Amino acid sequence: MKHLVAPSVLAADFSNLKKDFDLVNQSNADWFHVDVMDGQFVPNISFGMSIIKTMHGMAEKPLDVHLMILQPEKYIEQFRECGAEVITVHYEACPHLHRTIQQIHATGAQAGVALNPHTPVSVLENIIEYIDLVCIMSVNPGFGGQKFIYETLPKVKKLKDMIIVKNSKAKIEIDGGVGLQNAESLLKAGADVLVAGSAVFKADDPLDVISRLKNIGKDTLFV
Ligand code: DX5
Ligand code: ZN
Repeated sequence: MKHLVAPSVLAADFSNLKKDFDLVNQSNADWFHVDVMDGQFVPNISFGMSIIKTMHGMAEKPLDVHLMILQPEKYIEQFRECGAEVITVHYEACPHLHRTIQQIHATGAQAGVALNPHTPVSVLENIIEYIDLVCIMSVNPGFGGQKFIYETLPKVKKLKDMIIVKNSKAKIEIDGGVGLQNAESLLKAGADVLVAGSAVFKADDPLDVISRLKNIGKDTLFV
């Protein structure tokens, strides 16, 4: 499968979101990555439903909504109504993860599970068959523009092996500090979706960065 690129709108220009959404619409990116933070699960607050609804109105590509919030099960249906196509909850925030995954699927959305940097991929062994996406956090969630944690690479390889052994359809998404400097190693390790915030929106030429991220490995078969 050709990998996907998901620019993270957390790094977009909020004084002119339309401009950045149009840019991504015109690019060969695949999804909009949308970070929701509650100031409880993570030490930062981002935005909620009304902004996501507005984003959905501007987006011509699916919204990949990453919930960095406690008790996400309280809001799944609302995020779906706002236009979320993929809904990702944190393993660390879900004591009844299996039920929460079922709840996401019942809305018709794809279900993702995110793992903080300290959480081993082995915690997913009994749920990997039921999920559509695993988001491996390669920074501590809460802020854009942080440094990539290199211990992520062996985690991606382990997860890829687990997915193959369990015959799961889950995509592996990498979130945090991703850019042209590490994208190729991540893809070689087994990544399917590259989330990039600062690397795209803080670049002089965001369209060029998106297209370079998208074209990595185009002429090489490395997975
Ligand atoms: C971090 C968020 C990321 C963030 C990535 O908590 O989940 O999606 O926007 O930003 P960069 O690519 O700048 O690290
Ligand atoms: Zn994210």
